[in-house]
Amino acid sequence: MPQLKVSLGERSYRIIIQPGVLKRTGEILSNFPLSKTIMVITNPTVSAFYLEPLLDSLVQAGFNPSVSHVLDGEEYKNLDWVRRLYDDLLMNRMDRGSAVIALGGGVIGDIAGFVAATYMRGVPFVQIPTTLLAQVDSSIGGKVAVNHPKGKNIIGSFYQPIIVLIDPCTLRTLDKRELSAGFAEVVKYGVIKDGSFFSFLSENVERVMEGNLSILAKIILRSCEIKKEVVERDERERGIRAILNYGHTIGHALEAASHYRRFKHGEAVSIGMVGAAKIALKMGRFDRESGMRQIDLLRRSGLPVEFKEIDIDEIFPFIFRDKKSYNEELRFILPKRIGEVEIVTNVPEEVILQVLKEQRAR
Ligand SMILES: NC(=O)c1ccc[n+]([C@@H]2O[C@H](COP(=O)([O-])OP(=O)(O)OC[C@H]3O[C@@H](n4cnc5c(N)ncnc54)[C@H](O)[C@@H]3O)[C@@H](O)[C@H]2O)c1
Ligand SMILES: [Zn+2]
Repeated sequence: MPQLKVSLGERSYRIIIQPGVLKRTGEILSNFPLSKTIMVITNPTVSAFYLEPLLDSLVQAGFNPSVSHVLDGEEYKNLDWVRRLYDDLLMNRMDRGSAVIALGGGVIGDIAGFVAATYMRGVPFVQIPTTLLAQVDSSIGGKVAVNHPKGKNIIGSFYQPIIVLIDPCTLRTLDKRELSAGFAEVVKYGVIKDGSFFSFLSENVERVMEGNLSILAKIILRSCEIKKEVVERDERERGIRAILNYGHTIGHALEAASHYRRFKHGEAVSIGMVGAAKIALKMGRFDRESGMRQIDLLRRSGLPVEFKEIDIDEIFPFIFRDKKSYNEELRFILPKRIGEVEIVTNVPEEVILQVLKEQRAR
């Protein structure tokens, strides 16, 4: 059974990646010291496909599961819904040993994780991610959060799960657009850490998009491995973990400038990675051919590499906004070659502006 161990002292946990593992959840959890009462947090879209097999497996292993639904969408990842979830946990008599299971994409993982981190000062948390983005990124590393009207992921914590169960079969029902968006983070791992993984992705991108399970399982495993290694070295993002933000400086600015409506997160990151590569190229820190390889791979996976209909004047301030208000330096994660990035603090504003102009499709 392909598995990884995230080593964080007493907060260590395993990531199991296996087609069909969803149906073995009960059996796997019965090896942990948990109460019989257990809460599944999910949304109506995901539960229509996967709740029944999960509940069956929990009941078979002797658990007494309850279910709480959050409506489907980023707009429900907020404190109002956190409060409703606390109400459900109390009503269903969850105690300090009752696990909270997140069944869904990153939205469900983030809100369920926040609730698990805070209910009774923290109860065991289990991640069952069902989008590619959640399987390669958000379910690992322990960042949990909800949004505030003034910004995304403003209210949160670091809270590691006790186990992550990744069933690639769940990706069969996922929208192609969501699959591509998750793939952007996979490409990110290739660029920041592993050139031969990047080549593997280039050779197999069509198979990924067709939903080939064995290729998907492979790329999920390698992505989780890279994320885990970075998180192990810097759990709380005091330094090196920042490289996981490759493509995210411009990406976040695009998302914010378009009020989180136009782009999926991964789509904005795709444009942001191309932007970062162009910046590096202009600063003489990266080569054109590698830049083209990145663009080619992103395009073939159906991701955008440029944008329309948003004014640069609207995007530009968001690149600096967070930094200025918290008195931080603007740091760009720039590629040196495919497989290695560097953190660069002295990127001239004109270069950023020029790159955004080039990326704005006419
Ligand atoms: N905690 C972290 O480290 C971290 C990292 C990256 C992103 N995030 C967060 O993750 C969220 C985005 O996650 P996402 O991209 O998974 O979006 P999402 O959770 O909204 O899921 C995308 C859509 O796919 C549906 N869906 C989920 N699984 C499905 C399946 N198997 N079949 C069919 N439909 C399915 C969902 O209902 C939703 O409509 C954001 O809130 C972001 O802030 C967190
Ligand atoms: Zn991301």
